[in-house]
Amino acid sequence: MHLFDQVSPAPADPILGLSDTFRADPRPEKVNLTVGVYQDEAGKVPALRSVTEAELRLTKSGRNRSYLPISGLPAFNEQVQALAFGEGSLLPGTGRIASLQTPGGTGALRVAAEFIAQVLNKRSIWVSKPTWANHPAIFARAGFEIHDYPYFDAKNHGLDREAFINALKAIPEGDVVLLHGCCHNPTGVDPSAADWEQIAGICRERKLVPIVDFAYQGFDRGLAEDTVAVQAFAATDLEFLVASSFSKNFGLYQERTGALHVVADKSQAAGRVLSQLQVLVRTMYSNPPAYGAHIVATILNSTELRAQWESEVAGMRNRIRSMRELFVQHLKNAGVSKDFGFLLEQNGMFSFSGLKPAEVEQLREEHAVYMIGNGRINVAGITSDNVERLCQAIAKVLS
Ligand SMILES: Cc1ncc(COP(=O)(O)O)c(C=O)c1O
Repeated sequence: MHLFDQVSPAPADPILGLSDTFRADPRPEKVNLTVGVYQDEAGKVPALRSVTEAELRLTKSGRNRSYLPISGLPAFNEQVQALAFGEGSLLPGTGRIASLQTPGGTGALRVAAEFIAQVLNKRSIWVSKPTWANHPAIFARAGFEIHDYPYFDAKNHGLDREAFINALKAIPEGDVVLLHGCCHNPTGVDPSAADWEQIAGICRERKLVPIVDFAYQGFDRGLAEDTVAVQAFAATDLEFLVASSFSKNFGLYQERTGALHVVADKSQAAGRVLSQLQVLVRTMYSNPPAYGAHIVATILNSTELRAQWESEVAGMRNRIRSMRELFVQHLKNAGVSKDFGFLLEQNGMFSFSGLKPAEVEQLREEHAVYMIGNGRINVAGITSDNVERLCQAIAKVLS
């Protein structure tokens, strides 16, 4: 008997596993709409020009090579706090926010989970049905009991507003509730500004602990406009958490760059929270990776680079929007009778196509078109080159 004989193989990650199958597929016309990365018109994951310029500046400036503080690069924390809470927000100036640079948005969520479980002694969380598969996995690993609240109305391809709001009202007092700040993954369906006000009001009334997962800032309507959910919470006297990711909006997938913001009722409490977060981080990964944070801070601190970055984010957002339009138009042209107009109402990179698991499988097997089994597509994987083939394939499968 050897030590590792007792270790059974873990199942492959459902999304990343599909990417491996896609890579091994020899068919040259294959189309990948699975993994959540932005791709440009050439189907490539682009390096933003603002990022490349910031890298050049960093190389020339000879940055400090020592460890970062446990809570990360101060210039980064200051800038990304202002970004997440939106221009004009008074909160960042109050000292009520404990901000911490983390290894990506996933790192922010995991640190939040450890903090809530170990320091606040809460272990019950509510997530939307459906949600990003890693949400329940991250919180279960930190010892949470996972519950879900209704969210998506599959019949109308939109928000199941009534069921969602009623379920929020019934969540036990003091529980944690995870919400998507914008561009809900996997459905692309978001609450309206008025809904967010109502949601924040319910969270306040029920004394819930909201975590806003903010992985796609800038991919819905704009960097400032997309703070609507965060602003709705900030407008109350709620204590809440925000997990930001810079993987998508800076194209920093590899650099693991994110932030956790914990909003306390007063600045003394924020100081105590930060001290506990630092203890947790010290025992998990000691301090965060520096490179991505230096890039983000360089861009946000330079008027010129910031303007360039904002226009590049707008470029990504607009390309996705126009691919949604092209997709819907080509489906019509291919003779698909089902109305896919709802795709135009959905936000960000993802949409629930409404295609059934058997149809998704047939698309993969017979047409080399890859999407997630639940019908989620990454709209950013569509290009003017592949859209016609993609829509012809869907037409054949639906006929
Ligand atoms: C909803 C959601 N939250 C968080 C993340 C985490 O992003 P990362 O850890 O790559 O920064 C993702 C990434 O796909 C996501 O879709």
